[in-house]
Amino acid sequence: MSQVDLEARIPNNVGLREDKRLLRALEKWQPAFIDWWKDTGPSDFNADQIYLRTAIGVGKGGWAHFDYVKMPDYRWGIFLADPVVDRKIHFGDHIGESIWNDVPGEMRNRLRRLIVTQGDTEPASVEQQRLLGHTAPSLYDMRSLFQVNAEEGRHLWAMVYLLHSYFGADGRDEADALLERRSGDEDSPRILEAFNKPITTWLDFFCFTTFTDRDGKYQLAALAESSFDPLARTTQFMLTEEAYHMQTGENGVGRIIHRCAELMHAGEDPRKVGAIPLDIVQRYINEWASASMDLFGGEDSTNAAESFASGLKGRYREGDGIYKDPKALEHSYKAEVPEGDHMVEKEIPLRRAMNALLLDSYVADCQRIVSRWNRDLERQQIDFRIVLPSKRFNRHQGIYSSACFTPQGELVDAEAWNSQREVWLPSQADRDYVESCMVAVREPGKFANWISPPPRGVNDQPLDFEFVKFH
Ligand SMILES: [Fe+2]
Ligand SMILES: [Fe+2]
Repeated sequence: MSQVDLEARIPNNVGLREDKRLLRALEKWQPAFIDWWKDTGPSDFNADQIYLRTAIGVGKGGWAHFDYVKMPDYRWGIFLADPVVDRKIHFGDHIGESIWNDVPGEMRNRLRRLIVTQGDTEPASVEQQRLLGHTAPSLYDMRSLFQVNAEEGRHLWAMVYLLHSYFGADGRDEADALLERRSGDEDSPRILEAFNKPITTWLDFFCFTTFTDRDGKYQLAALAESSFDPLARTTQFMLTEEAYHMQTGENGVGRIIHRCAELMHAGEDPRKVGAIPLDIVQRYINEWASASMDLFGGEDSTNAAESFASGLKGRYREGDGIYKDPKALEHSYKAEVPEGDHMVEKEIPLRRAMNALLLDSYVADCQRIVSRWNRDLERQQIDFRIVLPSKRFNRHQGIYSSACFTPQGELVDAEAWNSQREVWLPSQADRDYVESCMVAVREPGKFANWISPPPRGVNDQPLDFEFVKFH
């Protein structure tokens, strides 16, 4: 087991104390990070006491500690999952060889790009959500938001540690640039499109944590298979924290749906009492699910093939031995692609279809969540059912982006699509309405009318616990 140093200025289990050069470099980056947080994080709440969980180790069960903390004093640390003894490369061209504890020269650029792209999403989401605290529907939810924000900050640390440790001067420059780009900035935006959209309402936030954080889960899971061991171990531990973000989303959307159904069941019109109607929830889901699917990249991708062949990115749960062909050389992936006004079958060599496979695992996971929401609607005897949009719908990346598809996945012409746009995606009127529902509730145990309380508070605290103490 690795040694955890919690007393250090940067808590870690990577032996920073012994590596003076790295320590100096990271201690130089730290004040820039704090400035970034104070500038573009949830800065209006910097002086308040938030009941937060802080990572203090990587052991199963006891890895986190809950206490009140002012966010700028949060102990952002560097934690890697413990190494696996004698780990071997388990997929791609180098199968059977020892894993790498250093970056092989020929993979340096590709690997750095993967780490920078992942790292860029972490501060981006904090920037996107920076004003949401003002309209939190409860103290419980406000705490959840800040928990997610603080942990995205730690994920940035995780990626910056890799850049500083393994990529020399270029890595240090990239680490600086991660604090310089800004979500939505015209001149210097964040790298991926979904991370440049502002998140102005809590419905957006819960959709983001359900669908976009879940894309993050699949990207991290693919990197957790990596032959570059420090990356595999870093991302493995990030996944532990990420689970809470996705739960926040899944439960948040679920509580909105639950509240609406409850009101409908009681014969009320949700719109008249400041709740969010199910058809609006569906349109937000259509928007965030499709934008998140774009993050997987092209379904037919030579780039993805190379990342797999060289052992940098595996399939979802590749290490569990669920794939019969760990080199992925023998099979192909069948996809239906648009050609003119009809669909034709296309066979993609399996290695080139790695993004498509990862997307399929993601879609199955999303489907499970939508089914859970629908079971609640069924229990409350409401006829409406939430539908996960087809992976063809509203795509701007990949094999479906050249044509128009309905949320059910049928090919239609642009005119037909545009005429339905406001049935399928949020209109300005929807956005205005949802925004009008966003009223701040700050009394412990109370919740805004558009969302049901959760069954219990975090860390087994009662619902009326003071999750945020204002200064
Ligand atoms: Fe993250
Ligand atoms: Fe996250």
